[in-house]
Amino acid sequence: MNSKKYTVTSALPYANGPLHIGHIAGAYLPADIYVRYRKLKKDDVLFVCGSDEHGAAITLRAKKEGKTPKEIVDYYHDLNKSTFKEFGIDFDIYHRTSEELHHQTAQEFFSVLESKNIFTKKTSEQFYDQEHQQFLADRYISGQCPKCSFDGAYGDQCEKCGSALSPNELIDPKSTLSGNTPVLKSTSHWYLPMQDHEVWLKDWIENGILDGELHHDPKQWRSQVNGQCMSWINSGLRERAMTRDLDWGVQVPVEGADGKVLYVWLDAPIGYISATKEWASQNNKDWKDYWKKDANLIHFIGKDNIVFHAIIFPIILKAHGDFALPVNVPANEFLNLEGQKLSTSRNWAIWLHEYLKDFEGQQDALRYVLCATAPESKDTDFTWKDFQTRNNSELVGILGNFINRVVVLTNKYYDGLVPGQNALQDYDKEVLSYLDCCGDKVGDCIENYKMRDGLSEVMNIARLGNKYLADTEPWKLKKTDEKRTETILNIALQISASLSVYLEPFLPFAAKQLSQMLNVNFTSWDESKSLDKDHKINSSALLFAKIEDDKMEEQLNKLK
Ligand code: MF3
Ligand code: ZN
Repeated sequence: MNSKKYTVTSALPYANGPLHIGHIAGAYLPADIYVRYRKLKKDDVLFVCGSDEHGAAITLRAKKEGKTPKEIVDYYHDLNKSTFKEFGIDFDIYHRTSEELHHQTAQEFFSVLESKNIFTKKTSEQFYDQEHQQFLADRYISGQCPKCSFDGAYGDQCEKCGSALSPNELIDPKSTLSGNTPVLKSTSHWYLPMQDHEVWLKDWIENGILDGELHHDPKQWRSQVNGQCMSWINSGLRERAMTRDLDWGVQVPVEGADGKVLYVWLDAPIGYISATKEWASQNNKDWKDYWKKDANLIHFIGKDNIVFHAIIFPIILKAHGDFALPVNVPANEFLNLEGQKLSTSRNWAIWLHEYLKDFEGQQDALRYVLCATAPESKDTDFTWKDFQTRNNSELVGILGNFINRVVVLTNKYYDGLVPGQNALQDYDKEVLSYLDCCGDKVGDCIENYKMRDGLSEVMNIARLGNKYLADTEPWKLKKTDEKRTETILNIALQISASLSVYLEPFLPFAAKQLSQMLNVNFTSWDESKSLDKDHKINSSALLFAKIEDDKMEEQLNKLK
């Protein structure tokens, strides 16, 4: 195994609702592809995630449903954990922020920062909902954006123009809990003065320089990530509250701080660390190895979490000391559905646990479409029509069709024994030399976080296979030119063998089935994937199923 460590995280989803396609497309599928690839490359990679079980959204939901917050998070933790698993998102650990280990870890973090005088403590007036008798989290105040006049801006950010806001900047603020105008009430909290960290942050984000050394290649970061960070920095960093008045969360570990909890910045991302600790203790490893300065820390997130992971969490990690900072924060933009923004409250979403029921055994079809249309550089749109077309014409028509022909012909002509290679023609050599370099091509895309391009390179291999068979027509040669037929099928089988590995990060279920059909068990990206003469393959099974119109209509009706 290579010694360099990769610590890959996906944003901890709130355990207050089920997962939909937007989650997967944003932060989980790309991370899973990346990790599966790294594992095939024999890199030492750890993939952590878990439920974010704190925050006002959860207490609010509990209130609405007449349940305790614990009941809510227990239910959704289990549901989401098993949904990820069934969908092939293969975390090494799916932890929870309600675990004692997490509370300890987050409190320790706070205490270290507090002892280093990183925070300032201040009393201020904050918005309070009198009807609900609680201070309002930024997200629970909405009003008019002072910059662009958009009416539904939140207390922390305007989703229309992207400006970072604080609640008191909103024009005509309202509590989203009661709809009332909130009152101001005084309370004291710990703040992180981000402006104190501006100089190194700027150099780190703009130039990739940290402590006088090159830390990462800034050109590898997506332009929207750099752009959002620089616009934040250039509009002036301010202090941010690190604690909140709430009775659900990690207690502030200071005497007299009853009723105060660590705010999301000092809670959820620390979850990556506590998850690592738990995994390490179960697997006889040292968690620190995965968070030391030379570890490659990579955060996969959606664009709503950019500032959090590229500015705030790095400040916290660096201020603590002895921690790695992310070498990349590959954030995706948003995925829309049938031309409209996904919305949990309006139920405008495709819920994954429902997809798994409605399309049994077809996880890879959704993985395929969500990767092929991933919002890597701009928002993209998911439509059922496009899903159906891509499934039927690309997965079934190209990939499935190619594999099926190769396996069926090999069984029919040669009793499932791989035929030998005879005199090669130029076309054969061209195909083989393409096979030699396509693994690097796909890998290069994945290493540069271009999952869409990587998948399209893999599909090009299948396309080439299809074309090769269509051009050479072995079924017409079988009676007249046995030697040529053998060679053609041999080469088609070599293409299939390569596909069984290169498909794995993207379509792990199909890759597994293909490996079983070919009777192979390749475990590494770079090993030779050639099938020897007389190797016995198994019979053919269909990798993908056609999706009919009525099924699509059902789904569209379900949406409406
Ligand atoms: N649960 C929060 C969200 O979904 C935070 C996720 S990012 C993490 O936005 F760092 F906290 F994990
Ligand atoms: Zn705005």
